[in-house]
Amino acid sequence: MRQRFVAGNWKLNGTRQSISTLLQGILSGMQDVKNAEVAVCAPYIYIPLVAESLKNSAIVYGAQNVSEYESGAYTGEISAPMLKEFDCKYAIVGHSERRSIYNETDQQVAAKFVAAQNFGIRPILCVGERLEERESNDTENVVARQLDAVIAKAGIESFREAVIAYEPVWAIGTGKTASPEQAQEVHAFIRQRLARKNPEVANLVQILYGGSVKPDNARSLFAQADIDGGLIGGASLDASGFLSICCAAN
Ligand code: 13P
Repeated sequence: MRQRFVAGNWKLNGTRQSISTLLQGILSGMQDVKNAEVAVCAPYIYIPLVAESLKNSAIVYGAQNVSEYESGAYTGEISAPMLKEFDCKYAIVGHSERRSIYNETDQQVAAKFVAAQNFGIRPILCVGERLEERESNDTENVVARQLDAVIAKAGIESFREAVIAYEPVWAIGTGKTASPEQAQEVHAFIRQRLARKNPEVANLVQILYGGSVKPDNARSLFAQADIDGGLIGGASLDASGFLSICCAAN
């Protein structure tokens, strides 16, 4: 049985004050979350604050991105060893916003995946198609290409220490969630793609769904056979909504 996992991706949101309040709110309801591991992925600069607030709690944390480089002349970047120094357990890699706004390529995403793992950080690898790709029946091709780039560079065994998030781009921040059946179809495809290389690894890797997950649709999504939890954007900024989503994994 795969462990349920719900991660909040705060994106470019928060202040010291709002983050402290949000974390206090989530912590105060955590006794109701029975089954899921819960993580929050904060803007880099707030990671020390998050680390301090979550000390001795059941909530873990991570970053929303990581450099593919370890150190050097890369102005503005943050590396995996830096994140490790602050005990980040996770780093999101290949979020669609990074791919589309910052032009991250499949190869770069694969390099980030490896960089994180080299320092004991579990990558949360995001994959997903754009609306026009879905409409032209290219969903599986796109997801396969994004996945294969990482398998080629990191190897199938590396997925023992990674999480995958399927996030259809057309569902992110739009209020248009994939139906549970639509999401399940792609999740099953992802698992089959991994199984071609190693069925055991495919069976144990957690695959999260992301894209307008809300308290009222989380339960039906998480009920699908290959959906192991969620990567939550907007709804993770509200303590009670995020907690309801975490409880939907119970
Ligand atoms: P929303 O939940 O705001 O649609 O964002 C999803 C997402 O991008 C999580 O990484």
